[in-house]
Amino acid sequence: MSIALAFDIYGTLIDPHGVVDELARHVGERAQEFSGIWRDKQLEYTFRRGLMGRYENFVVCTRQALDYTDSLLQTGLDESAKTALMQVYRMLPAYADVPASLQALADDGLRMFAFSNGVADAVSGLLEHARINQYFEGVVSVDTLKTFKPDPEVYRHFIDVAATDAQNCWLVSSNGFDVIGAVSAGMKAAWLQRSEAVVFDPWDIDATLVVNSLSELPAKINI
Ligand code: LAC
Repeated sequence: MSIALAFDIYGTLIDPHGVVDELARHVGERAQEFSGIWRDKQLEYTFRRGLMGRYENFVVCTRQALDYTDSLLQTGLDESAKTALMQVYRMLPAYADVPASLQALADDGLRMFAFSNGVADAVSGLLEHARINQYFEGVVSVDTLKTFKPDPEVYRHFIDVAATDAQNCWLVSSNGFDVIGAVSAGMKAAWLQRSEAVVFDPWDIDATLVVNSLSELPAKINI
């Protein structure tokens, strides 16, 4: 049975810190710091909303995390600056290793899906903007279930959509919590360690495979 790859989007194919240039226009040299806190808070909000059963979609989590970060750092962003930043979030760039790696995986005949906390239209827009949408059989969004990764339900939902056995389903993600969630739900998972500074959570639930670049995947994923 053919293998189905579930690609995480933010942090794996698409760079959430691609907003730094726009941030620098508004907060100057605090742009990197702002971007880091914004991303961490956005994810924290998804975890908390999932646990509490108080779902609001990823756009809301992102906007509320933006408001939080602005208040925390006292950067005084006005509404038009926040609107501009949220617009850039819909056009974030793909990482440099993405197009050629997806092409190689497509040449190998692998089925590929986008699998994200993001809402489907935002994810589709990012894939189109990065000119990589043609590689994907579909976009699988947690928004269908109104919960977030790493709720086991979202991985089961992916397996259902892919219509194959869990053992034929691979998550590809740079996010350790996502990898652990997928393995815990019975999928295989490749952890993309984009930087040596990033540490995998010591939970005794390991990734099936670790790569430092997506370009390593085509040679390793057919195992
Ligand atoms: C996603 C989050 C994890 O794209 O960034 O699902």
